[in-house]
Amino acid sequence: MSFEQLIKSIPKAELHLHIEGSLEPELMFHLAKRNNISLRFKSVEEVRAAYQFTNLQTFLDIYYEGAGVLQTKQDFYDLTMDYLHRCKADNVVHTEIFFDPQTHTDRGIAFSTVVEGIHQALADGKKNLGISSHMIMCFLRHLDEASAMRTLDQAMEFKDKIIGVGLDSSEVGHPPSKFKRVFGKALEAGFKTVAHAGEEGDPSYIWEAIKLLHVERIDHGVRCLEDEMLVEYLGLNRIPLTVCPYSNVKLKVFKKLEDHNLKKLLDRDLVATINSDDPAYFGGYMNENFLGTAQALDLAAPEIKKLAFNSFEASFLQREQKDQWILKIKTL
Ligand code: HPA
Ligand code: ZN
Repeated sequence: MSFEQLIKSIPKAELHLHIEGSLEPELMFHLAKRNNISLRFKSVEEVRAAYQFTNLQTFLDIYYEGAGVLQTKQDFYDLTMDYLHRCKADNVVHTEIFFDPQTHTDRGIAFSTVVEGIHQALADGKKNLGISSHMIMCFLRHLDEASAMRTLDQAMEFKDKIIGVGLDSSEVGHPPSKFKRVFGKALEAGFKTVAHAGEEGDPSYIWEAIKLLHVERIDHGVRCLEDEMLVEYLGLNRIPLTVCPYSNVKLKVFKKLEDHNLKKLLDRDLVATINSDDPAYFGGYMNENFLGTAQALDLAAPEIKKLAFNSFEASFLQREQKDQWILKIKTL
């Protein structure tokens, strides 16, 4: 089997994907028309040309703007279904998707519209495409604690559909400690917890996510290598990192893919995974991230298998389901 064939055919779980970040410009235009919304862009090409980012914030500004076309349950359904077809094409058999309710509720869209639209697509994706999934609700960390608390309250009646809570948006200046009470309440209610940390923020953000928010995974976490104690801790406690190579290059965390530290993370025996983050904005879904990164870092077949293994090990699947996929990987 060729190396490319291995990447294509190996079963994978995606654990770091913002559903709003899978909004392709074509669907953006389609939804704008359907909802009578005027965009400041004249064409799909113009939208793509605007995707030149210098850091996380320059991306977030345009990402929140794009999400404005999402209005109805059907819009969230269509968005999610398009992403699930990408999963099918890339042999992503399990996905744990982030959604940002505050991006929508702050513009008057009902919380239930967002959750039910996404959930219906995931249920159909399970039935028709065989893809299992979970939903993780992220709090926007640039907004205040009270807004996150209100969002958590809204999530309570959808506990059967939302497995956990996360933390995203502008990292620096908004440390995990700001949301200690919100995450405490979420944990008490039975939600799992994850958080973006160590993407642009220094290792103290990762420590806070672990110690104060009790996260089971760190999203990104690539700056952990700056703190030897932290690397030891992550390794000993098998705390996974959901790494997003294309995102990191687009947002200038690393200058180029060849500079990415994913191989170093694997060499330190950390539970690192590959994910696409916001594929419509960063230029690649899962297999592109796998292939591009493997080429740039000269990864070998055992490392690809390790990354796929890690993706299931780090997932919120039941042990039995994890083992079924891991067995498949081992026999490839
Ligand atoms: N970091 C922070 N917030 C985000 C990201 C990210 O990579 N993607 C979407 N929201
Ligand atoms: Zn992210």
